[in-house]
Amino acid sequence: MSTFTYLKNLVSDYRIASVTPTSSFGVRWLCRNIDFEGSRTFVEFGPGTGVITEALLDRMRPDARMVLIELNRNFAEILRKRITDPRVSVHQADARNVRQVIESEGLDGIDCLVSGIPFSYLPVDVRDRIVKETARLMGDGGRFLAYQTLWQQDRHLLDHLTRYYDHTVGTIELRNAPPLRLYRAIRSSRRNNHSVNGEL
Ligand SMILES: C[S@@+](CC[C@H](N)C(=O)[O-])C[C@H]1O[C@@H](n2cnc3c(N)ncnc32)[C@H](O)[C@@H]1O
Repeated sequence: MSTFTYLKNLVSDYRIASVTPTSSFGVRWLCRNIDFEGSRTFVEFGPGTGVITEALLDRMRPDARMVLIELNRNFAEILRKRITDPRVSVHQADARNVRQVIESEGLDGIDCLVSGIPFSYLPVDVRDRIVKETARLMGDGGRFLAYQTLWQQDRHLLDHLTRYYDHTVGTIELRNAPPLRLYRAIRSSRRNNHSVNGEL
């Protein structure tokens, strides 16, 4: 899918927050930081038209599941038409409702979450709630991978990741338009929080 599709939709929906799909450099960094063999349940926040989704599907186990949570109606429609892999389900929904979506799929947790939503556009309490909710849903060693445009301040997501995850690293990828901040956060098994209702 093209830059044209992004631009056309960005005009009416600022939350798309990008003029073009993530570059192959950004996609490769994300894939390098995922444990594909050890992960069965994947969630993607803001898959857009599916550039990262397709790369993940190429590497995921045959028995894995992938839940896509995309707010933009047009993008959700494109995803439904383009991605026919039986491992995938598409939800036109807000990332803040991740728990409801996961429960509606009959799943009890997440092994790996990839997020491209523009966290800096959200109020601080909403950002915090979303990251906390993902951490509650994570299994032992669960991973949260995020990419954000460089102009979103460094700490806008990092502070929340470091609060709820145990090992967080970040880097910058300049070979993307615009450049990206990339984060990987891992939940440690010692927190033992693989519970839909459990407290952290
Ligand atoms: C920067 S684009 C990334 C698109 C695509 N994954 C890529 O790599 O090119 C951000 C995406 O997040 C979606 N989005 C923004 N806020 C969201 C939210 N609260 N919940 C779910 N999706 C959201 C936008 O509609 C858009 O598709």
